[in-house]
Amino acid sequence: MITVIKLHDKYFKPFISAKEIDDVLQRLAIEIAEDVGDEIPVFVGILNGSFMVVSDFIKKYPKPCEVTFIKLASYEGVKSTEDIQRLIGLTQDLTGRTVIILEDIIDTGNTLAEVHRIFKNEKVKSLKIATLFYKPEAYKKDFKLHYVGIEIPNKFIVGYGLDYDGLGRNLPEIYQIKETQHMTNLVLFGPPGAGKGTQADFLKEKYDLVHISTGDVFRYNIKNETALGMLAKSYMDKGELVPDQVTIDMLNAEVEKNTDANGFIFDGFPRTNAQADALDKLMDSKDSQINAMIALEVDDEILVERLLSRGKTSGRTDDADEPIIRNRIAEYYNKTAVLKDFYSAQNKYFGVDGVGSIEDITVRLSTVIDKL
Ligand code: IMP
Ligand code: MG
Repeated sequence: MITVIKLHDKYFKPFISAKEIDDVLQRLAIEIAEDVGDEIPVFVGILNGSFMVVSDFIKKYPKPCEVTFIKLASYEGVKSTEDIQRLIGLTQDLTGRTVIILEDIIDTGNTLAEVHRIFKNEKVKSLKIATLFYKPEAYKKDFKLHYVGIEIPNKFIVGYGLDYDGLGRNLPEIYQIKETQHMTNLVLFGPPGAGKGTQADFLKEKYDLVHISTGDVFRYNIKNETALGMLAKSYMDKGELVPDQVTIDMLNAEVEKNTDANGFIFDGFPRTNAQADALDKLMDSKDSQINAMIALEVDDEILVERLLSRGKTSGRTDDADEPIIRNRIAEYYNKTAVLKDFYSAQNKYFGVDGVGSIEDITVRLSTVIDKL
């Protein structure tokens, strides 16, 4: 189980361990010491972020060295700004010295540009740049980076000196921002006539969730002739089942459209173990997960009664014939049995009594969701 942490309004997941950082600093210390040879270098840390890197790095540096700091500030929240403030400049004469900048992270390179401006008029012997982390996709400058610890994707990280609005610097390891923030994702199940639609509408409102009904998603994609819709249709026209991957791709598109959502209610999917697995993978790729499968439980005889009376007014032919109704109910239990096992194994299966007034059932569902 990964431990997600919350700093201010954002969630972060573990990304780089303290051990890995330690190993990288060890490697850099040896590499730099070899290059520096007999010189006594001056390591210059860029505050605030680099205090941990500098502290741990110089303990590993195997030869005599000096250490000093300059203090620059650029970040606002999770965005790097062009406007670098020089808070504390150089306080010592570095003429003729071998200088190695120690950075925690190089992102756009704006801070580094300021460092180069600071050193432009210093008559140092050499100026080299070392950074623990480097985001190549974000880097917009062409100053050479002489020593790079770990290249990382262009995502905001915290820990090991790096902060999000002041918090997170004390963490001994690195955490990366979660793609999607905290979500409640439900798989809603119920036999025909259980009142799933009614309850989904209610849950959607109460918890601000996006209702993804696989049937609706299919109809939407086919009607709008999306690439995935056409692909799905080509299978359906041949009387074949639409491959799971096509369905998953459609669901992925729905999830992508709603990354700000508080979560999703999946309805009509998954129906097989393989689909449940695929859905877990999809949620995982969004840094999220299915929190619960909630099944509305209603006695067969009550379902038959409900559907027959619905059939009298709705005109749905499959709601009018008792053997057909019983068959649909039986099919539901056949299909969901495996899913009940799948989610039970993850302690995520919740059966809810679906008999009673709409409000009563709603209260029962909320009780389950509020505890997730
Ligand atoms: P740059 O000027 O865009 O290269 O950014 C450098 C400075 O921004 C670093 O010294 C950090 O203080 C800060 N920074 C860049 N990326 C991150 C990050 O992912 N998390 C926290 N701070 C960051
Ligand atoms: Mg910094």
